[in-house]
Order: sequence, then structure tokens, then C-alpha cells
Amino acid sequence: MQVSTVMTDVHSDIRGETYYRALELEKAGEKILKLNTGNPATFGFTMPESVKTVLTDRAEQALGYCDVRGMAAAREAIRDYHRAHGIRDAQTDDVFIGNGVSEIASMLTTVSLNEGDEVLVPMPCYSLWVNQIVMVKAKPVFYRCDEQADWCPDIADMRRKVTAKTRAVLLINPNNPTGAVYGETLLQEVISLAREHGLTIWSDEIYDRLMMDGTPYTSIASLCDDVPIVTMNGLSKSHCLCGLRCGWLVLSGPRAETAPLNRALTTLASVRLCSNALMQLVIPTALEDAAYTETMIQGRLSEQRAATCRALDRIEAASYVPNKAAFYLFPRVEFTRYGFESDKQFAAALLEEEHILVVPGSGFYWDQPDHFRLVMLPKAAELERAIDRIGAFLQTR
Ligand SMILES: Cc1ncc(COP(=O)(O)O)c(C=O)c1O
Repeated sequence: MQVSTVMTDVHSDIRGETYYRALELEKAGEKILKLNTGNPATFGFTMPESVKTVLTDRAEQALGYCDVRGMAAAREAIRDYHRAHGIRDAQTDDVFIGNGVSEIASMLTTVSLNEGDEVLVPMPCYSLWVNQIVMVKAKPVFYRCDEQADWCPDIADMRRKVTAKTRAVLLINPNNPTGAVYGETLLQEVISLAREHGLTIWSDEIYDRLMMDGTPYTSIASLCDDVPIVTMNGLSKSHCLCGLRCGWLVLSGPRAETAPLNRALTTLASVRLCSNALMQLVIPTALEDAAYTETMIQGRLSEQRAATCRALDRIEAASYVPNKAAFYLFPRVEFTRYGFESDKQFAAALLEEEHILVVPGSGFYWDQPDHFRLVMLPKAAELERAIDRIGAFLQTR
């Protein structure tokens, strides 16, 4: 059977070769600590009671196909959420619901890009975005995020990368894999760049409710109304509902510019009929249940981060920038100085010898063999023991 040539450059190291090796080891009876995905339910995080009640009491209401863009009540709740976060003019018709931000990213790239178009994407970058851009034969062009500047985008580098083919600039804010959060000054600089070059801003904000230490969050779309912006969000992380597949986008900016995209999204949405209706039922309730997320942040997420940092501080070879949001760290270790050929080889050896699965920095398109991503979701004691084992493993080389 023929396989499309677009698949040649599509890959996810989060669920790549090392992941499949981990599954093999599990099948052979080994216990593997899987720190490769941000999937809270697999680490004992349970669903909000408020959501459970909706699912058990109202499932009957989700049996039919619904509006291709999403159920009205869900889209209204999303509209209100984003109005409260600064998109003052958000309307229900600006909202599209999809099966996770993953499907939303696929829809957005499909309707926005032509072959050869370029999108500025962060380095490091969560692989969903690079893959979706590649799949429509467009080109991801990386701008550097600077570890010395708390992993914020290097605006000068972003500027250098703009060409006549650039159509959009992607922000992942708060960021995966670094846990960085961007301040207002930086966001204003991105807006200026987009304004100058006629670019659309794509802002993946799926972690905006997972702010640590009371750090304030600014949604870029709250800062301007003259640049077209696509803001994306979802319930996978803040409400630990990855499996329900619940994400959305909101269009903002000049309506003359967003209207054609709105029409194209509606057409594309209608081709796939509608997204999973069961998860749409829970959106209004979940967005009201901020207490669930706050309890998780104040409780397990803070404890787990403290344990991670304590253990990392004991590893001489490692340095890191503490995350301001989400549950990831992107520590630096010069693997080649510790006898590894590359970050990939480190991850493969760590799996074989310690049965710990992590994603090497190159899985996020980082261009040096000197980082890996830690997912801080296991309980504090287990996480601390695992990181101590990583430290001991590095020392044996
Ligand atoms: C930055 C970012 N965007 C999108 C997603 C995918 O989210 P969803 O479960 O809504 O498809 C993830 C998942 O890890 C993510 O980290």
C-alpha cells in the first residue's frame, strides 16, 4: 500500500522508538516509570467530582451529532472564559471545539497554510505543532528560546527568521517542555513583529490555568485587537481529562481578517460532523471549577516540583530553570561529557538500565545533545527516588 510522502518527516519522540522499547520491556514483565507524557490520569490524578456528576447524569444529551463548531452552551462558556481573560470582543461564533488541541492544531494548519508557507515555531517545540505544519507541506522555521532568559523567545532571532513566506508565529505559552511563561513586554514585541509583517499569531495556552507560585498569566489576545490571533486551550491538563479529548480555539482581531478563516474552519468542521459531544457537556462545569485546578497546584504539583528540584540539585551534572507553570522541566546535562553519544542514546540507556523513560531534548527539536524533559507527575517520593537514580546512572559513566 502507498504511504504518503508527507509522512517521511512526521515523527513523535514522545511516543517514538524508545517508547515502543519501553512497551516491550513492560510486556516482558519489567516495571517502567514512564516520564514521557503529560498524562495526569496515569499518575493517580482523578477527575473533578463536578465533571463526574455531569458525565453520569447527562450522558443522554450527548448521543446526537451536535453543531459542527461545538454545542452552544459549551461555546458560550468558552467565550465567557476568554472574555474574562481579556478577549473583550469574543463572540460565540469565534469559538470552535475539537477533539483536543491536537485536532484543533490539525484543523488550523489545514485551513491556514499552503505548500511552502512558513510558520515561526519555538525551539524547543512540542512536536504536535511541527508535525501538523509538515503534514500540510508547509515549513516550521525555528526561533530560539533562551535558557539564560528563563527560556523566553529570543525576539531578535524571531525577527531574523521572518521571510516573505512567513504566515504565522506560534507561541506555546505557558511552554511545554520548558515551563516558561512570557511577560507582557515580550508579548507586545511579538505583537509588533506580527503587525509589521502581517502575520497571524497562534497561541497555544493549554497550560494557562496551571500557573505555579501565583505567577500572573497574560493571554496575548488580551493585549491587542488589531492583529489576528488564534488562542487555543483545552481541559486535558487543568482538569486531568486527556482521554476525553477536549480542546478549542478562539479567533480574535479584525473581523475582516478572521471571517474567511472562520468560514473555512466551519466547512472543515462540518466534514468531520462534530467533535466528541460527551466532553462538550462538561466544558461549562469544568471551566467554573477553578478550585479543582488550584487544589492540584497547591498540593501535588507543588510538592512534586519541590521534590524534583531537591533531587536535581544533588546532581552535579544537571542544571535547570524552574518552571513557572505546567509540570515539566527541561534540565541541561552535557551528555557527551558523560560518555553518551547523544541525548537520544542517554534516554535509550536510561530505559535499559534504570527502566525510566524520558524524552531527549532532540524530541523537542532542540539542536544540541544536552537536554531532556522531565514530567513531574508521579508522587513526590517516587519522583525524587527516580531522579536520584538518574543522578547515580550519570555518575557510573
Ligand atoms: C503545548 C501542548 N499543546 C497541545 C497539547 C495536546 O493537548 P490535547 O490533549 O488537548 O490534544 C499538549 C499535550 O501535551 C501540549 O503540551
